[in-house]
Amino acid sequence: MNNFTFSAPTKMIFGKDTEKFVGSEALKYSKKVLVHFGGGSVKKIGVYDKVIKSLKENNIEIFELGGVKPNPRLSLVYEGIDIVKKNDIGLIIAVGGGSVIDSAKAIAVGAKYDGDVWDFYEYTASPKSALPVATVLTIPAAGSESSNSSVITNWDKKLKRGISNDFIIPVFSILNPESTYSLPPYQIACGAADILAHMMERYFVNTKSVDITDRMIEGAIRSHLEFAPKAIKNPTDYDIRAEVMWTGTIAHNGFLDTGRGGDWASHGIEHELSAIYDIAHGAGLAIVFPAWFEFCAKKNPSKIVQFGRRVFDIDSTDEQTIISLTISKLRDFFKELGLALYLDEIDIDETNFKIMAEKAVGKKNGSTIGSYVPLSVSDVVEIYGIASKRS
Ligand code: NZQ
Ligand code: ZN
Repeated sequence: MNNFTFSAPTKMIFGKDTEKFVGSEALKYSKKVLVHFGGGSVKKIGVYDKVIKSLKENNIEIFELGGVKPNPRLSLVYEGIDIVKKNDIGLIIAVGGGSVIDSAKAIAVGAKYDGDVWDFYEYTASPKSALPVATVLTIPAAGSESSNSSVITNWDKKLKRGISNDFIIPVFSILNPESTYSLPPYQIACGAADILAHMMERYFVNTKSVDITDRMIEGAIRSHLEFAPKAIKNPTDYDIRAEVMWTGTIAHNGFLDTGRGGDWASHGIEHELSAIYDIAHGAGLAIVFPAWFEFCAKKNPSKIVQFGRRVFDIDSTDEQTIISLTISKLRDFFKELGLALYLDEIDIDETNFKIMAEKAVGKKNGSTIGSYVPLSVSDVVEIYGIASKRS
């Protein structure tokens, strides 16, 4: 097990009717807040009104910025930074999903910086501070409600880039499973794929002596494989939605990678798809991850075999049988969620495979992505190829 420092400072307020706590919690940070949201779903479902009511009851001055798109755009981040700087705002409250939260985090670091916030996402500068961010989560998916990351798309440059630092970990997050009832099945499916991917990214490492976190991840994945399809079939079952929502947070708050790290190649490979084709992150992962399994099983099969035995209860002594059953069971899960399994099903062909692979890995000689099997540009092109259509 590796040395580690673990801190999960986000105050999580989970359950029915918890939006009423936004105002009193916000007051601990500022009397002036920016409420940030997406394309309007939070207004339709009444969550937005509950947040505003609670803020008003606590006499908090409210500024608003809506319009965050999935794969959140840098252009709106600039608008947010401007509003925050001009009005001396002290807290940003993201009401929505990962895209809204990530946009809020970008505004938070940009508001404390004199240069262009994109510098952070190009890694030519690193944040030294940030405004506090809080969240009211409406979709279990990205885990941004307690993560230290923000992923932003620079649409002009066709780049999707992430930053990670402790300044942007939300100070508090409100999680009410009831606010997820309105999610279309496709969004629940994409979120469920992302949640599973966050756990698998952490599982596939070569670190020795990490049985405790291996077992925790396996247990959380087994629960998720059971509850995610149920969440689609029973959209208003509180207990099922609660299971999925809390799994989404646990999957990405850093606890499951203590002492071991993670791989993250599949995320890098997927982000290039989202950046060019504007597909949902989870939809891309459902296609990329099984292809990554297929490629890596040839180079480093041991953990994939362990995963198949312990997560899918595959009872065989033949490694090849375990590997192929594991990959087909993984695809079966994504199919049950209603997601596409190959790039050709979503009209993506090989035109940009090389460009995307170079962007994911980097162009420097000897650059690789991932740690379970370090992948070169040609390896990533091969993975896009495996993902392209059913063989
Ligand atoms: O825009 P609105 O109207 O809010 O609609 C959203 C959006 O269209 C809708 N939605 C959200 N809650 C709803 C709802 N519709 C009905 N009822 C509700 N209760 O769902 C759509 C998707 O929302 P989005 O925020 O894009 O989804 P998600 O949470 O999956 O976030 C995806 C983004 O997070 C990034 C991804 O790359 C992607 O850009 N990630 C962020 C991470 C992080 N910060 O730690 C880690 C992840 O690996 C991921 O990369
Ligand atoms: Zn993800």
